[in-house]
Amino acid sequence: MKELKSEELRALYLGFFKDHGHGVIPSASLIPENDPTVLFTTAGMHPLVPYLLGEKHPAGTRLTDVQKCVRTGDIDDVGDNSHCTFFEMLGNWSLGDYFKKEAIAWSYEFLTSEKYLGIPVEKLAVSVFEGDADAPRDEESASIWAACGIPTDKIFYLPKKNNWWGPAGITGPCGPDTEMFIDTGKPKCSENCSPACDCGKYLEIWNDVFMQYFKNAEGKFEPLKQKNVDTGMGLERTLCILTGKNSVYETDLFADARAKIESLTGKAYGESEEITKAFRIVLDHMRTATFILGDRKGVTPSNVDQGYVLRRLIRRAVRYGRQLDLPEGSLGEIASVYVEKYANVYPELVENKQKILEELAKEEQKFSRTLKSGLKEFERTVSRLQGTEIDGQTAFRLYDTFGFPVEITQELAKEKGLTVDIEGFKACFQQHQAKSAAGSEQHFKCGLADNQEATTRLHTATHLLHAALRKILSPDCAQRGSNITAERLRFDFNFGRPMTKEEITAVEAFVNEAIQAKVPVTMEEMTVEEAKAAGAIGLFESKYGDKVKVYTMGAYSKEICGGPHAENTGDLGTFVITKEQSSSSGVRRIKAELK
Ligand code: ALA
Repeated sequence: MKELKSEELRALYLGFFKDHGHGVIPSASLIPENDPTVLFTTAGMHPLVPYLLGEKHPAGTRLTDVQKCVRTGDIDDVGDNSHCTFFEMLGNWSLGDYFKKEAIAWSYEFLTSEKYLGIPVEKLAVSVFEGDADAPRDEESASIWAACGIPTDKIFYLPKKNNWWGPAGITGPCGPDTEMFIDTGKPKCSENCSPACDCGKYLEIWNDVFMQYFKNAEGKFEPLKQKNVDTGMGLERTLCILTGKNSVYETDLFADARAKIESLTGKAYGESEEITKAFRIVLDHMRTATFILGDRKGVTPSNVDQGYVLRRLIRRAVRYGRQLDLPEGSLGEIASVYVEKYANVYPELVENKQKILEELAKEEQKFSRTLKSGLKEFERTVSRLQGTEIDGQTAFRLYDTFGFPVEITQELAKEKGLTVDIEGFKACFQQHQAKSAAGSEQHFKCGLADNQEATTRLHTATHLLHAALRKILSPDCAQRGSNITAERLRFDFNFGRPMTKEEITAVEAFVNEAIQAKVPVTMEEMTVEEAKAAGAIGLFESKYGDKVKVYTMGAYSKEICGGPHAENTGDLGTFVITKEQSSSSGVRRIKAELK
């Protein structure tokens, strides 16, 4: 395999696909244009959604790019070998142009050809979709791989959990995929060892998605008019695998920033586990913060949405920087190294350098003033604590007076084997909000969530609402439509007259009782027949095919659905119906929020 540097890998990839007729397009902004369900661009396909749905792209029907992406779902895992909150995704797309045959053949050529990655065939393994009610078993991809030269015992058929990608938000284009792995040569961990297990034998390097479905708000998969290909190769991960490094943090992308931190602190990356973890967190969070601040649609630290994620990243970097004795005021120096490292690929960082440095300095200063006293306050709380839970009021004081994002308090608590009463924190937060000036912009959407989490929770609330309507109004009430944004849910159902005030109150009470009961949301896959027998509601149309997911919330709700859902009804907050009105003849519409 070739010891490539990041700039070489980008150039090889784009060059290869350009030679195969693809238009090279620039990375889109990190802030998505038309998708209220996510805060950041999370994949190369994300900015291309309108084109995957049929709109004409000015650069044609074959595209390739390197897209900046942010995924913060695993922020707590940053510090290990592989997690990053920012990454670059190399991708190529067919917008209703080529399909499996070309996509797979090109993937194979790029991976194995000496001119490109030069990976020996015997080091490759692939997986294809095993098929289910939504899409057939992908024998076609398997036979294309076999024709390329992949032995059949290295072609694995895996289920939707592994071999289906998308949508990027709650709804959108998606489809079965075929994934490519490096077989590290480690012995199989068991008889059934496959790329589906995380024993480390197989490392994923690339994903070709055959995007021919649209997942709608009800979780159903509708065929798309055009058959697309969407592929994604993680730059950091691929470099790490190709160069045989232990960690993405040891690739050239981080080398200069690592050296900078070493010179600022006198500590060495790799010196101890704890130091390495702190290095990685500072390296990762500072890179992500630099890219968010330096984006053309860049935001600044705040208490809402992207700005809040940015604030968390910077403040967490400051906290871990302290562990390394990083001198106060040096975040800008680390950011400057990244600006330089990425200047050729992302000139917006250079254009926005001043803003990046100013905002980092401001945020670091703000937090540094209170970090030490906040940590003292935290220690004092812990020393007086009876039990293992830090109460919401203390978490709120740490937030309000000392600027600790509640996630930092949770992290500090976890290090001591403690938890934080998040519901109590939210209650204090809301109380405070109600007291502070009306119209204040300071709010967390749905308490602390990013949009994705907010919509997921509203989706769970929708199930409870559906159950409540059937219980309180009529067992014949059924869903006629559903639409969820980060702020509210909208639910249409059949019912012949306006609801009374009492009925609205009773429906709210039912849902809030289910929330207060804090029941876990569980999912089982079963046949439609089994689902019916278990008393699940939902649409039993043939489109669902034979296997369906059934989500259960204690005795409150059992419904067929594609997910995703909150883990526990206790995560939802307080359910409030804000509107009940007519939608069409015989159909009522409810709008509701989680406060
Ligand atoms: N969109 C696909 C992914 O992110 C390619 O893996």
